[in-house]
Amino acid sequence: MLSISLIAAFPELVEHALDFGVTGRARQQGLWRWQGFALHDFAADARKSIDARPAAGGPGMVLMPAPLDAALAAARTWHGEKSLVVFMSPDGAPLEQNRVRQFAQNQHITFVAGRYEGIDQRWIDANVDAIVSIGDYVLSGGELAAAVVIDSCVRLLPGALGDAESATFESFADGKLDWPQYALTASEDQQIPAQLANGDHATVNRWRIKQALIRTWMRRPDLLARANLSLEETSMLDEITEIGLESKTY
Ligand code: 6GU
Repeated sequence: MLSISLIAAFPELVEHALDFGVTGRARQQGLWRWQGFALHDFAADARKSIDARPAAGGPGMVLMPAPLDAALAAARTWHGEKSLVVFMSPDGAPLEQNRVRQFAQNQHITFVAGRYEGIDQRWIDANVDAIVSIGDYVLSGGELAAAVVIDSCVRLLPGALGDAESATFESFADGKLDWPQYALTASEDQQIPAQLANGDHATVNRWRIKQALIRTWMRRPDLLARANLSLEETSMLDEITEIGLESKTY
């Protein structure tokens, strides 16, 4: 079972976010467990302070080391052993599916969510194993970002997804975006692509791979530069780039 703890000012933000769908079912199945540690519960003074003014001045507040230490000790007791400590911060490395796969291999992960101007650097240096961002924009706290990372990890746990294939044939699985999907419905006002309507298995497969390549080329050319393409895919991509499709931004 994957054990995940979250140290944050507002761990409640994450609690129910993961009670639904794949992550909720996986928790009920005992594939993972979760515990939040609210920093205010680990404050030393009567006013429950968890932050202080930045040393040498400046705007905002900085989370203090002492409540973080106490919360991490409590998390460690809950885990029963040392966990991987992941600090959620826009200063971290942007999350990618490969990193998610690595995280999902761990048995014990503690996410730490920042608030305000950040966390005391001494505490980060002493305790943090990884710093993760979910993109180049700023959230008011790391809690929702932690929920995103936890969701992406939990759905990869063996048994979490109903159809075992759906985690391999999906966006980023092999460095490409997913192909377009069409619902199989009884009456078709709008036609679905002919290759799907009456194509054999090989035709459908080739069409899907080509559509995935077209979509990746148009929307995320940066991914193609790093993708591991087969010979067939490379020649499909040559055809696509020769047509000179304009990229379309959504
Ligand atoms: Cl992990 N935290 C915050 N506060 N903002 C973010 C983020 C994390 N990732 C992107 N923006």
